[in-house]
Amino acid sequence: MLKGKDILNAYQFSAEELNLIMNTAAQFEKRVKEGEAIKNMEGMVVASLFFEPSTRTRLSFETAINRVGAKVISMASASSSSTAKGESLADTIRTIDGYVDAIAMRHPMKGSAQIAADVAVHPIINGGDGAGQHPTQALLDIYTIRKEKGYLGGHTVTFLGDLKYGRTVHSLGYFMQLYGNNMIFASPESLKMPEEITQDLRKRGAQIEETGDVEAALAKSDIVYVTRVQGERFDDPAEYEKVKGSYIVDMDLISKAKPGITILHPLPRVDEIAAEVDDYAGAAYFRQAHNGLYIRMALLALVTGRV
Ligand code: CP
Repeated sequence: MLKGKDILNAYQFSAEELNLIMNTAAQFEKRVKEGEAIKNMEGMVVASLFFEPSTRTRLSFETAINRVGAKVISMASASSSSTAKGESLADTIRTIDGYVDAIAMRHPMKGSAQIAADVAVHPIINGGDGAGQHPTQALLDIYTIRKEKGYLGGHTVTFLGDLKYGRTVHSLGYFMQLYGNNMIFASPESLKMPEEITQDLRKRGAQIEETGDVEAALAKSDIVYVTRVQGERFDDPAEYEKVKGSYIVDMDLISKAKPGITILHPLPRVDEIAAEVDDYAGAAYFRQAHNGLYIRMALLALVTGRV
């Protein structure tokens, strides 16, 4: 069903494809935990091209490539490749596409994954394109919600923080709508969800409330998805200074939230979740990061036709 396909945004998936990805991830999770030496992608090579910093996405992709039996070639920064000499993204991708069976990439420019997909013969997997989309993150997010809550629909989910530049919420909002969850967007005024995304989600039938009242939002939420203020995407550093630290999830706030609330965060966090929250049973963000491994194994195997 996904063989040969690019993974570029959250909007591309049918419910059937999402089930296939999550069920494949669950199988890989079981096999990894049983200690199996998995060989689905034996003989294949995958490129991991990161033109922008990453810890989780790059290293979980590279771990996934190794764990699924393929070999990896890797670029951890733009400065270590010929893009530093002025080579275009399209030329870089055309070249590397000739070496490998699939490419996982992150790039600071919105739309860069589509540019890569337009010139590559092999599947491109978008690991984040500027303030655009981060579909593999959204996939691991719903895999985590399914594991933490037991089911994916009927929840009230608050997206808290930088909804303007936080590409993970741009992707996840679509999945939340698809599975019939209510959404609350809670953010500083200057970091609101882009209007075109909110409008598109509403057109698709999403129930969305927008608020600046975080306490009230969490009092009726089953899940809160916290995001970092994306300082690197502000044109004006003074604007970043104005909003950084404007919301902090601590145990005082959690004590006023709906009992059993699950806390997610794509990570990295800076100071928007206090360290004391890490011991709270519903703090699922490190489990969420670990789930990325299985989702990325599943995606790699599916797009290369090795499941
Ligand atoms: N969640 C996420 O994309 O983390 P990294 O930036 O560390 O890859």
